[in-house]
Amino acid sequence: MDLLLTGGMGYIGSHAAVVLTQAGHRVVLYDNLSNSAQVMVERLERITGVPPLFVDGDVRDTDRLRHTLRHHASEAVIHFAGLKVVGESLDIPLDYYANNVQGSISLLQAMREVGTRAMVFSSSANVYGEPRYLPVDEAHPTGVTNPYGRTKLQVEEILHDLARSDPAWRIVCLRYFNPVGAHESGLIGENPQGIPNNLMPYIAQVATGKLAELRVFGNDYPTLDGTGVRDFIHVMDLAEGHASAVGYLREHAGWQVINLGTGQGYSVLEMIRAFEAASGRRVPYRIAPRRPGDSASCYANPEKARRVLNWTARRTLAQMCATTWAFHSGAGGKGAA
Ligand code: NAD
Ligand code: UD1
Repeated sequence: MDLLLTGGMGYIGSHAAVVLTQAGHRVVLYDNLSNSAQVMVERLERITGVPPLFVDGDVRDTDRLRHTLRHHASEAVIHFAGLKVVGESLDIPLDYYANNVQGSISLLQAMREVGTRAMVFSSSANVYGEPRYLPVDEAHPTGVTNPYGRTKLQVEEILHDLARSDPAWRIVCLRYFNPVGAHESGLIGENPQGIPNNLMPYIAQVATGKLAELRVFGNDYPTLDGTGVRDFIHVMDLAEGHASAVGYLREHAGWQVINLGTGQGYSVLEMIRAFEAASGRRVPYRIAPRRPGDSASCYANPEKARRVLNWTARRTLAQMCATTWAFHSGAGGKGAA
């Protein structure tokens, strides 16, 4: 299929671009490079052997999107573009609503005008808020607690209204749990600017010596070892989930919301030990106070993805750590996201 990937130069979009290209789809990466870099184009070509088409554009630029969709005859859009840092969204909420909500409306308007009515949307487990039961299935009530999560839920609702208004729309909202890991080539991965907010990139930077030690946010949670438990999912499994979702959209109209997780939770201390084993490096840490807004445990019920998309996560925690290490300790970690 001819696919437009907004935010396709970013962490998840670039891995999805690899999987989709290797599955025979033609991808166009539409990105404003606000959190990625041009060097990605050459890295993707090195991995797949196919130079990806890149358009430097903002999703709020409806004219440019309309032109791009028409020019490339895009049959479906995977909408990764957006801002994604929870803490930052509390400081600059307007930027989050403008990029994530206004950007999505602009994209949907362009799609409607050119007649492209199929979308896979990057949503987040963040929309569930504090889990009321585990594992978290799609029937779990939503309970957003920050502007970032609210933008994701609002876009899901816009998409739902759209699908109800016109049966031609085909929409899958994927609620990601905690994406980690990198492509096995070590060429692409997650390389956040500044001090990382998330656990895995932080651990990786401690292991490389870039940061001195990890602060473990709380060891008095009601979990097996007292530290937080999350559903870490390999980004290549996540990328394959998008290929499955695109396949699903070929056959089915309507609106779906689907978790992408493994169903398995790992604690912060388990992550540290697994990373030490994969890298052969020590990861010094100290126990620090809980981070406000964190829940004790959060992991998915991935049953709907298995049933509807015929997809399950296959890669192990050791693979998540080994590929992260390969990326951070090699050439990949010194360049783009
Ligand atoms: P990322 O920042 O690496 O990638 C996002 C890409 O979108 C970047 O390349 C950025 O330059 C681009 N972008 C941002 N605003 C844009 C705009 N207005 N117009 C065009 N391009 C724009 O993030 P990621 O981790 O790859 O996340 C992709 C999507 O998945 C995001 O929507 C994010 O909210 C969602 N998500 C991510 C995670 C995670 O932990 N990484 C978890 C749940 C959901
Ligand atoms: C965070 C975001 C969430 C987003 C997710 C995706 C918050 C409150 N939530 O969730 O919206 O969808 O990332 O990647 O920011 N930890 C440490 N030390 C650190 C960093 C993290 O101990 O330096 C712990 C956390 O307390 C948590 C676990 O590691 O228990 C995972 O943290 P993180 O990677 O930030 O993910 P989430 O908290 O799940």
